Amino acid sequence: KQPGTIFEAIGGFASVDRLVQAFYARVGKHPDLIPIFPEDLTETIHKQKLFLTQFLGGPSLYAEERGHPMLRRRHLPFEITPTRRDAWLDCMAHALEEAEIAEPYRTAIFEKLTLTANHMMNTPE
Ligand code: HEM
Repeated sequence: KQPGTIFEAIGGFASVDRLVQAFYARVGKHPDLIPIFPEDLTETIHKQKLFLTQFLGGPSLYAEERGHPMLRRRHLPFEITPTRRDAWLDCMAHALEEAEIAEPYRTAIFEKLTLTANHMMNTPE
């Protein structure tokens, strides 16, 4: 256990699972995101659970399975415009509500992810 992390505070693995499932259910239906995501989101969901666990201060599962995140580099094959950044963040904002992630963690997580999402943009509109 790692007390004092956001990961522990929001309820650990069960909460990350709920959040990621709620998020990709929306991504899979979002007209701006469908074109760049695989039709089958099973692997994407798996990788994002590993990543968010680590990102929120839980065990370093992503690094163990996939190495250094290098997220910007891993996103270069996809055209990430400001519109797609907004769509991603909108899906995440709703998923944080649906998964009932408690405040103040909900806002803290959203702010952290907004910074990362800005960093992922690689294509003008
Ligand atoms: C992978 C899109 C932001 C974390 C992907 C993939 C796409 C994508 C199309 C490939 C799916 C796959 O490999 O199965 C986007 C878009 C974003 C965005 C449009 C809008 C800004 C973010 C942010 C994070 C993130 C903010 C951080 C939480 C990841 C991770 C992967 C991934 C961990 C899997 C990388 C791997 O190990 O291959 N993303 N992404 N993405 N994304 Fe994003």
